Amino acid sequence: MEFRRINGLPPYVFAEINALKIEARRAGIDVIDLGFGNPDIPSPAIAVEKLAEAAHNPKNHRYSASKGIPKLREAVSNLYLRKFQVELDPETEIVTTIGAKEGLSHLMWVLLGPGDTALVPSPSYPIHIYAPLFAGADVRHVRVGNDPSGEDFFAHLVEAWESVWPKPRVLVLSFPHNPTTTCVDLAWMTRVVEFAREHEVIVVHDFAYSDTSFDGYSPPSILQVPGAKEVAVELYTLTKSFSMAGWRVAFMVGNAEIVAALTKLKSYLDYGTFQPIQIAAIVAMNEASEYPKEVNEIYHHRRDSLCDGLARIGWEITKPRGTMFVWAPIPAPYQEMGSLEFAKFLISSAEVAVSPGVGFGPGGDGFVRFALIENEQRISQGVRNIRKALTRL
Ligand SMILES: Cc1ncc(COP(=O)(O)O)c(C=O)c1O
Repeated sequence: MEFRRINGLPPYVFAEINALKIEARRAGIDVIDLGFGNPDIPSPAIAVEKLAEAAHNPKNHRYSASKGIPKLREAVSNLYLRKFQVELDPETEIVTTIGAKEGLSHLMWVLLGPGDTALVPSPSYPIHIYAPLFAGADVRHVRVGNDPSGEDFFAHLVEAWESVWPKPRVLVLSFPHNPTTTCVDLAWMTRVVEFAREHEVIVVHDFAYSDTSFDGYSPPSILQVPGAKEVAVELYTLTKSFSMAGWRVAFMVGNAEIVAALTKLKSYLDYGTFQPIQIAAIVAMNEASEYPKEVNEIYHHRRDSLCDGLARIGWEITKPRGTMFVWAPIPAPYQEMGSLEFAKFLISSAEVAVSPGVGFGPGGDGFVRFALIENEQRISQGVRNIRKALTRL
């Protein structure tokens, strides 16, 4: 059958790895799964309890508010004030979304159409590339290099801006960055906001790893930059920070006009997240506000187990300062395999699943991405398996 929008999509390369993983597990092999970024850490107990309690109340079984109930938006407003010293009006500057992914995808519908262009980092979390494409727009990839500070990226951004006509309407950003783990500071964000104001481009910052950072580094919210609200919106999600991936609770915050536009579109599309989930999310943010630190400590130890373990077997990787991933250049003796073949090799020979870099778009092929979603013992076992499999190291 012919379909619209999805026909041109390339086969999802992660699906190939997933199929191999399932096949191996069916054959009784205990694959250590560091592939998909699907958190294994439980959600805060207090939120789970509140969800169960609220689900028993029939009042909460009706349609809810698409933009999120007022107390939920207030809780995010308080979180931004506490954490980033950013003031947000819960009425006009916050809309609830069904995860950052849904928010970002529908946001592109109101920002972009045929004939428009978005600048998108590459390699990239796939929806950053596909959301503008689904909206009918063109995508210009902006290379995120190996410079961990994002300095290269800024230069590539200016270069891309200058070479595209008509001028891009939207710049997608996401730092700490999945998959490259590039992290930026507030000075960097300030330059981007200045650039956006000068060139009248809208900045969409996906802040999925706002709480996942190590070694004293604190990821900046773009809204900490004075004047950012004129040009920017940010997606904040409970998925990684509170380990609430399946709950589908996130927010788009910032520029009031853009918030109003997405709110309007969503009022046609959905009736909001199930109200008990919204109520439990309020409790998570208000009463488990330290939970993201606990989650972060777990990722920190896992990062060290993986990077130190791999370094000991001769696979040196710069430790990431943010995200729940390790972006690993394929070791030189295996480079010619490319990331898909190398990832398949790791499943069949080391019983370890990783994501091939090529799945994240141009620029990703020399790398594989480890997601820190298994415990330290399993990660150490994975490293031992890799040592046996990579005989050319
Ligand atoms: C950059 C980025 N944005 C968004 C998401 C998904 O967020 P959500 O669960 O809120 O849709 C992820 C998950 O891996 C991510 O890496």
